[in-house]
Amino acid sequence: MQNKGRGSFISFEGIDGSGKSTQIELVKKYLHKSKKKVLFTREPGGTFEAELIRKLILSKNKKIKFDDKTEILLLLAARYEHYKKLIEPAITNGKIIICDRFIDSTLAYQCAGNNELKEFYFQISKPLINNFEPDLTILLDISPTKALERINKRKNKNKYDNKNLSFFSNVRKGYNQLAKNNSRIQKLNALSDKNILAEKIRKLIISLLK
Ligand code: TYD
Repeated sequence: MQNKGRGSFISFEGIDGSGKSTQIELVKKYLHKSKKKVLFTREPGGTFEAELIRKLILSKNKKIKFDDKTEILLLLAARYEHYKKLIEPAITNGKIIICDRFIDSTLAYQCAGNNELKEFYFQISKPLINNFEPDLTILLDISPTKALERINKRKNKNKYDNKNLSFFSNVRKGYNQLAKNNSRIQKLNALSDKNILAEKIRKLIISLLK
């Protein structure tokens, strides 16, 4: 999968409250110790322009109610900015990119259980980013009930954090289906001990990079 000189792209996925941020911080600690060139980024966002689009998409202003397809288009616009300006050049330069959310978030959050939206997404996404996919995706799996318990303790909730159990159950189903069909996706139990989980993730990353 990896060409000589080409970098690697690793994404982290999971429903809100799955502990992604904590695990990404732990990855940051040990990858910074190694001599590898690493770039940490996120979606929606990652570049100045894409972060502007993020603000629009995640706005908590109740007056803003995008149509489902508009929301997908905005996410893809942000992704294109991110891919073209940051991801593609970094991959070409041999960097390791760790991305907090990527394509699977759009498929799970916006398209799960809706074939029309899925088709719409693929039609636009495929030519836009040349079928680009992560080399490895860490999916932190958690039951929506447990995730909501964690989210409710948070002070700064995002737009999607206020969704209900059935919304997150559908997103989780979407993720599980993606994991079944894509060997790049490694599903891990998000309720495992934090350090045990970090060690599993470290092993997966090391095995990809060697
Ligand atoms: P995240 O940065 O993980 O949340 P937080 O604000 O808690 O750090 O993700 C932001 C939200 O964006 C998250 O609720 C999921 C949502 N999202 C989508 O719905 N579709 C997408 O394609 C992406 C990338 C994110």
